[in-house]
Amino acid sequence: MSEAILQVKGLTKKFGGVAAVNDCSLEVRKGSITGLIGPNGAGKTTLFNLITGFLVPDAGKVFFKGKDITSLTPHQVFKSRLFRSFQIARDYPEMTVLENLMVICEEQLGEGLFNAWFRSGQVQNQQKQFARKAVDILKFIELEQKKDLPAKYLSGGEKKLLEIARMMMVDLDMVLLDEPGAGVPPALQDKIMSHIQNLSRERGLTLFIVEHDMDIIMNICDTIIVMVEGRNFTQGTPQQVRSNPAVIEAYLGRGGEEKKHE
Ligand SMILES: Nc1ncnc2c1ncn2[C@@H]1O[C@H](COP(=O)(O)OP(=O)(O)OP(=O)(O)O)[C@@H](O)[C@H]1O
Ligand SMILES: [Mg+2]
Repeated sequence: MSEAILQVKGLTKKFGGVAAVNDCSLEVRKGSITGLIGPNGAGKTTLFNLITGFLVPDAGKVFFKGKDITSLTPHQVFKSRLFRSFQIARDYPEMTVLENLMVICEEQLGEGLFNAWFRSGQVQNQQKQFARKAVDILKFIELEQKKDLPAKYLSGGEKKLLEIARMMMVDLDMVLLDEPGAGVPPALQDKIMSHIQNLSRERGLTLFIVEHDMDIIMNICDTIIVMVEGRNFTQGTPQQVRSNPAVIEAYLGRGGEEKKHE
């Protein structure tokens, strides 16, 4: 068993009087593909927001690679090589697909576009390198023919592929994905999932994935954490979770496989 790369300890977040995340503790092992499942409103997205600095917890701590990251901003979290999909390149709809990929490198380096513009030839060289890398990745992900298209013209599924491409541009240790399969046609979904598995196998990237599609979760995850009412209800291998009567009662029993997507 590998060590934990992410540790969540007693995390709590209340909205009004209601605890969306309620004294939640969990660990994600380095190099694993860990799934996070649970009924609508269980607190999965809120947990991801707490881990990545988009929300500040009322109580509890988050440790990444042994370091306390609880009070870091989203950008600081990103710089520590923990990425949440849609975290940084939230929306550059007017920029081309290629530019969308180049921007994320600059974000990781901490250099704004304008800043870079005033810099010397060194930056230009770096820009060229980023562009070459971006084109290679777009070829790999089969989006190269759309590289000069403004990102806003991509389909929902292609935008998710672009998101995967972004993850390949930068050096990351862990990625949090919130419903990568939602709203994507099945053929493209398979492609996205195989790229995700590839990132884990070839780069040793740790993946933490919220997904309502049980086929996806059962196929690609080695560990599954079940979240119910803001807490870590149980966890195990896909087999263990699937055959756990308490999970079936708490989650699947309430129509778990028919959950709505956001
Ligand atoms: N910004 C917010 N303000 C108030 N309540 C919120 C906010 N964000 C989430 N909640 C509430 O917190 C609870 C957990 O929501 P969250 O979105 O984390 O659940 P989820 O597990 O991601 O659900 P789903 O599977 O539907 O995406 C819900 O009751 C939700 O209504
Ligand atoms: Mg959610």
